[in-house]
Amino acid sequence: MYVNFWYAAALSRELGTQPLKVRMLGRHFVLFRDSKGVAHCLSNVCVHRFGSLAQGSVRGDHVACPYHGWEFDGAGLCQRIPSNGPDQPAPGGRARVDAYPTLERYGLVFAFLGDLPESERPPIMPIPEWDDPAWRCTNAVFDIRANYRRLVENALDFAHAEFVHFFGSKGRNPNFRIPDYDIVEHAWGAGADLTFERPSKGLLRHLRNETAKPRAGTHYHGPASFITRIHIDARMASYQYVFETPVDAGSTRSYLVNARNFFTSSFFDGISDRRNASVVLEDRAIVEAIEPPLPAEGSVGDLSVKADAIQLHYRRNLQRWQEQGWRLDTVRDAAESDGRRLTMIPSPARREAQSWVFDVAPRCG
Ligand code: FES
Ligand SMILES: [Fe+2]
Repeated sequence: MYVNFWYAAALSRELGTQPLKVRMLGRHFVLFRDSKGVAHCLSNVCVHRFGSLAQGSVRGDHVACPYHGWEFDGAGLCQRIPSNGPDQPAPGGRARVDAYPTLERYGLVFAFLGDLPESERPPIMPIPEWDDPAWRCTNAVFDIRANYRRLVENALDFAHAEFVHFFGSKGRNPNFRIPDYDIVEHAWGAGADLTFERPSKGLLRHLRNETAKPRAGTHYHGPASFITRIHIDARMASYQYVFETPVDAGSTRSYLVNARNFFTSSFFDGISDRRNASVVLEDRAIVEAIEPPLPAEGSVGDLSVKADAIQLHYRRNLQRWQEQGWRLDTVRDAAESDGRRLTMIPSPARREAQSWVFDVAPRCG
């Protein structure tokens, strides 16, 4: 799992007036909205006696711990300690928790889990169709008992669709092959686009323009997000943007934004979302059964063929981000903590303030 990227922390509609507890990168965070409705993301563990802030309440622009009422603002600073009595100044010093930058877009609350200054942060994967009236976008969420890397690699796996999905031939097409493809590089990832023979079955077979061959491609962005673009024919397209949030090393919350440029009335959301969900569930059944549950380092440990080239590109980028010191060392963290010590994902304020109650999580390299 990698720090210094944006992760989808919740659906915007999940975060109301109460604090919300979410788990990402093996830790708990509290999300809350201040009096202006702006979302904030803090480490969930109160630095006093380690109460769970998400069990507390929102008071104005602060989240108040349920245990002794300490109040923390959106920057993670303790602003009030009730036992000190009224009218006492904010305590300062180590009375603070890590606070993570947030952005709300595409129906999601994103948190930047890392300590990079704003100018150096990798961007959130953009969704240009979100504000385009020619497109209809919907949100969906899936909880998957698999490592997020397995899910990204599955999405970058052009050969599996023919076997795993309802629109494939389940191996009955004797002419099936993955054509050679070119990898297109992006600033934070890469991808490829392929032209396929027509799907042999499924609903879309009846909707397509008979003269156009379907085109599809998947491009990853950072370690945990990707887009799959399916052009059913010259006019109709369906894009799936997926933000894979690692809950911990073995489980993932998939935030899916479906975009379609046909049947754009909300009346068709149900049928469109059900179709996309059936694809996700087909993938989930395969990926949850892969052993071992955690992927090996780098490109070693399994056997690749030509069609897998884009997955190997993804693994090389993971290696690069690891060399930058962005990969959490979960093995060392577990060994050193012995279940009695918590470590935190570093937040940007760690670059200025040196003294904190909790140490930061160890990183590889
Ligand atoms: S544990 Fe949070 S105020 Fe005491
Ligand atoms: Fe799939």
